[in-house]
Amino acid sequence: GLVQHGINKKISLFIGDITALEIDAIVNAAKKSLRGGGGVDGAIHRAAGPSLLEECIALGGCNTGDAKITGGYKLPAKYVIHTVGPIGENPESLRSCYLKSLDQLLENKLESVAFPCISTGVYGYPNDKAAEVALKAIKEWLETDDNISKVQCIMFCLFLEKDVKVYEELMQQYFPC
Ligand code: APR
Repeated sequence: GLVQHGINKKISLFIGDITALEIDAIVNAAKKSLRGGGGVDGAIHRAAGPSLLEECIALGGCNTGDAKITGGYKLPAKYVIHTVGPIGENPESLRSCYLKSLDQLLENKLESVAFPCISTGVYGYPNDKAAEVALKAIKEWLETDDNISKVQCIMFCLFLEKDVKVYEELMQQYFPC
């Protein structure tokens, strides 16, 4: 299901599997080695096929809070933006994941992107705290310079029922219709 919210309806919630999205870019909650793993990382690599891992290995890793881009291969998404979230609660580096991913989006002249709930699975960031960081980062980014005019669609891809609850509440606060 898709629920759209304020700021010209550019922000939306998607509930389901990020690998199904036909969009310019999906964000991967990767690990520093960029060599694939479990969770959303595993799902993205399985759906994209082995060429994704090859391109990832050639990138030589990624620091926590940074983001790197690859092709989407067999995914319906054109690109994958790999970002490495913090292990545990670290708002500055989680915020940086969202902002660096958006830098990649603009540098590659892309207009639509979907974010998973970075760090809230294996990396153990509390879901509600992470959602606040995510929504605040996106809101402030959209209000900076002319960023809002450069993007068509920013989606939060929610996979767990508990995140649907958290995001539906926080969306009213950060992006009232
Ligand atoms: N689509 C969308 N979201 C998904 C999918 C999917 N197919 N599969 C899992 N998720 C959700 C999880 O339910 C969670 O809400 O993605 C969110 C992030 O969880 P993780 O994938 O565990 O990511 P993270 O907590 O950032 O941990 C990263 O996990 O697999 C490893 O290589 C990865 O070491 C890295 C670590």
